[in-house]
Parts: sequence; structure tokens; C-alpha cells
Amino acid sequence: MIQVKKKADLQNLLNSYRSAGQTIGFVPTMGALHEGHLTLIQKSREQNHRTVCSIFVNPTQFNNSNDFEKYPVTIPQDINVLEAAGCDVLFLPSVLEMYPANEPVETYHLGTIEYILEGEYRPGHFQGVCRIVDKLLDATQPNELYLGQKDYQQCMVIAKMMQLKDHRIGLQICDTIREPSGLAMSSRNLRLNQSDKAKASLLIETLRNIKKNLTAGDTSPHIAEARAILTTEGFEVDYVEVTSAIDLSPIKIWDGREKAVALVAATINQVRLIDNLFLN
Ligand code: PAJ
Repeated sequence: MIQVKKKADLQNLLNSYRSAGQTIGFVPTMGALHEGHLTLIQKSREQNHRTVCSIFVNPTQFNNSNDFEKYPVTIPQDINVLEAAGCDVLFLPSVLEMYPANEPVETYHLGTIEYILEGEYRPGHFQGVCRIVDKLLDATQPNELYLGQKDYQQCMVIAKMMQLKDHRIGLQICDTIREPSGLAMSSRNLRLNQSDKAKASLLIETLRNIKKNLTAGDTSPHIAEARAILTTEGFEVDYVEVTSAIDLSPIKIWDGREKAVALVAATINQVRLIDNLFLN
């Protein structure tokens, strides 16, 4: 695996692949890699000649400085697992490489999706995500971009940004990889103690209950029940929602046919977790 720290070096390397007629798949990450990240690498390897992974803990997407400071950094292990996974190129830029001093801040006109769900609880988060992913796509110019359904709203936001910026890149949304308990794998799980980790599988259990019990009709009793279960178990719930899978607008009365997704965000002992599940 080739490791690169500078955008210009990355561009030169990737241009040499492109000149040889090779396609490039790109997997952006913030490191502390787990099976979820590795399935994105695997998918990219299946579909492209070359796979590029980036590791960059992006300061502009953290609205909470404590969360940023506590974000796990495990670069030596990450390098080993990427090597073993057959990743071709690792891009490991510095903050100054991605955010040169005095650079004007670009604003993305994302519409409502920026302000709902995660956007409501993490103001500015999606602007930060768009800023970094836009820059990474400019540097990498991949054929395909690989994202995880685990962060479903992020997938939809990035799709919108790519449309706005005319990035002509395929978007592959990969299934959420879970622990045997059902808990969605996440770098933040490293911060859960054993008993909270056991409790954390309640997130997906409550979403699976919604899926099982909701046929058509009023979604609110199912949402209220999920909230109550999580709260009783000691979670601080930001949201439980049933929304359109297309634009994430809330669905109050479901016709049972519209493509829908249930989403949850909740905190246990200062560790904030999210998950989602398609209902049909
Ligand atoms: P990070 O949280 O490191 O996630 C990198 C990618 O891995 C994202 O597309 C995320 O959805 C995916 N992923 C995380 N957990 C997963 C799981 N359990 N199953 C499947 N995929 C999973 O998301 C980010 O970083 C950042 O916001 C980033 C896009 C890199 C921009 O900074």
C-alpha cells in the first residue's frame, strides 16, 4: 500500500493509474477502522482496479470539541488492517493540507436535509462533512465513492453536494455491518464500557420492533414506544423518527408503500450513537 500525505502527490499517483486505463474507488474515513469500513474497501476492490482510502479526523464536522478530542486515533493499527484488506493507496493528510490558512469557507445550499435529524442536534455538522468530502473528491476524482448506510443522512447529504458541485461520480451505499448483538459497528463503540455496549444493541432492537409492528397508519405510537423503552434503559434520546427514505421528511401517516426508514440517535454515558433501518 502506498501512503501519501500531500494532495499533489495523490493526484500524480492517481493520474498515472488513470493514464493506464484503471478505475478508482474511494473510501473516505476518519480512521479507527472496523469491519464496517473494511466492507467498503472490499466492495471498492471488487468494482475497481485501484482502491484509495483516506483517514482524516475532520475538525470542521465536529460541533462538539469534546467529541473531536475524544475521537479515537489508531493509525498504526489502521495501516495494518488496510494492508491486509488489499487497499492500494492510503491518503493521510494533515489539517493544514486540507484547510490551508485563510482559505474562504464554501457554503453548500443543501436545503431542509441539512437542518433535520442529525442536523438539528449537530448544527454545522453537514457543512463540515460537505467541505471535506468535496475537497477529497476533488483530490481523488474517483469513479466510485463508497459510503455506509450506517450514516444514512450523510449519504443523502453527500449525494446532494455531489449534485450541486457536479461531481460525476457513482455513489455506492453499502449495508450496515453489525456486531453479533446487532449493534452497528462504529468507531465510537470503543468508548462504550461493557455494560453500555450490551445496552447499545437496544437501538437496533427498537428499530426492528418498529419495522415489525408498523404496517400502515399512524407512526407516532410506535415512535413513542421506542423512545420510552430507550429512556427507561438510561438513554438520552435525541430522536426516533420514521421518514421518507428519499428526502428524510417525517412520515406521520404511512401508506405502507412509500419507501421509508426509521432512524434513531441516543446517548449513553456521553457516547452518542446513531442507527437506521429501512422499513420496506
Ligand atoms: P467514518 O465514521 O470513519 O465512516 C467512514 C465510512 O464508513 C462512512 O461512509 C460510514 O457510513 C461507513 N461506516 C461506518 N460504520 C459502518 C458500519 N457499521 N457499516 C457500514 N459502513 C459503516 O463518516 C465519516 O467517517 C466521515 O463523516 C467522512 C465521510 C469520512 C467525512 O469526514
